[in-house]
This record gives sequence, C-alpha cells and structure tokens, in this order.
Amino acid sequence: MKNIVCLISGRGSNLEALLAAAGAERWAETLDARIAAVISNRPGAAGLARAKAAGVPTQVLEHGAFPSRDAFDVALMQAIDAHQPALVVLAGFMRVLTQRFVSHYAGRLINIHPSLLPAFPGLATHRQALASGVRVHGATVHFVSHEVDGGAIIGQSVVPVRADDTEETLAERVLVQEHVLLPRCVRLLLQGAVSLRDGRVHVQAGHDQEVAVAAW
Ligand code: GRF
Repeated sequence: MKNIVCLISGRGSNLEALLAAAGAERWAETLDARIAAVISNRPGAAGLARAKAAGVPTQVLEHGAFPSRDAFDVALMQAIDAHQPALVVLAGFMRVLTQRFVSHYAGRLINIHPSLLPAFPGLATHRQALASGVRVHGATVHFVSHEVDGGAIIGQSVVPVRADDTEETLAERVLVQEHVLLPRCVRLLLQGAVSLRDGRVHVQAGHDQEVAVAAW
C-alpha cells in the first residue's frame, strides 16, 4: 500500500478534495494507495477536523515549539517517515522547508500553489494577479525544489480574470480548480502516468489533457 502524507496549516479544503477523491475513486483498491496521515504545524487548523471525520490519523507539530527551522524540519521528517510515504503533499502548508527536508523527499514532495507559476510565486497571488492586469490566472501543482514555488510543474489549471473581479472572487474561482487539479495530479503520480526525470516532469502519452486544463 502506497502511503500519502498530507501537510496542512489551515482550512484544509484541498485536503478535503483529496479525501473525497480517495473515497469516491476507491484509491485503496484502484491505486493501492491511501492518505495515511495528516500533519499540521498549527493546532487550530480546520483541516485537522476534516481528516478526523474521514478517519485519517492526525498529528500536530507546532513549529514555534522548536528552537530552529532545522530542528522543526527534522522532527517533521521523523513524523512523516513513520508512515514510509510514497508521496508527501503540501496541501496549504504555509512554511518554507529547509534544503535538507526538500532533498530528503526529492521526487515525492509536491505542492499546490494558487497561480500559474512561474508567475506570482509567494503570497497574495490573487492580489498580484489583479495588480498586474493579467487576463488569465490559475493554479499549479509542482514538485518542490530548493527554490520557493520553483520546482518542476506537474499540472496547471487556467481561469479567466474578469473585469469586476476582487481578490475574493478570483480566489474562489481558482480554488474550485485547485480542488480538481490536486487530486488529479496525485492520481497521475500514483499511477506512474506522471514522473520526474532528470528534473523535468514526464507525462505519459494520452495524459496531456489532464495536466493542462482551461476552466472557462
Ligand atoms: C490554497 O490556495 C493553496 O493553493 C495554497 O494555500 C491554500 C490552502 O487552502 N497553497 P486550503 O487549506 O487547502 O483550503
């Protein structure tokens, strides 16, 4: 059984989308995979309740309780490795990870970011998009590399930016797509239809349309 470990910091709506897909698509039987654990760096993260409701074990590791970023990441690695994960998913995990952590999970650590990378890395992506005047915006699922929001791109979903959009309406439109894109990318990785080869993402023939989505 391939274990997936999800890291969260807050709301957990992407986690919920993964849990829903894992249930509806019966990942245990069809992909021999399961969401084995959810780990949060914040005790109040709403996503913890979502995991518990789905019967998934949860753990809280408060980053503030550790003397350094490195000490936190080492403890986090131990907690994650207890599950021997095939895949580690950053599903709204709002911490920059150390090089040591990123190297340890090379090729099996992915993140979802609410912009069409490489545009708008970092925070406040919807505000950045509106300020720049782009006509399209979206979400990206990518492997995590040493550069923040800079790893090889697995899948992207594009949405229009409308004239009357606010940060909130744009965020909402992107989030709907995040919830489709993340489970899909996880599924493709577990199937082996998408893989990392020499730092680039290889997509098996026939799967191109699943990793490049326009949602009008
Ligand atoms: C999402 O917008 C995700 O792209 C970003 O953080 C947010 C997390 O939302 N990395 P949620 O906790 O999944 O609801």
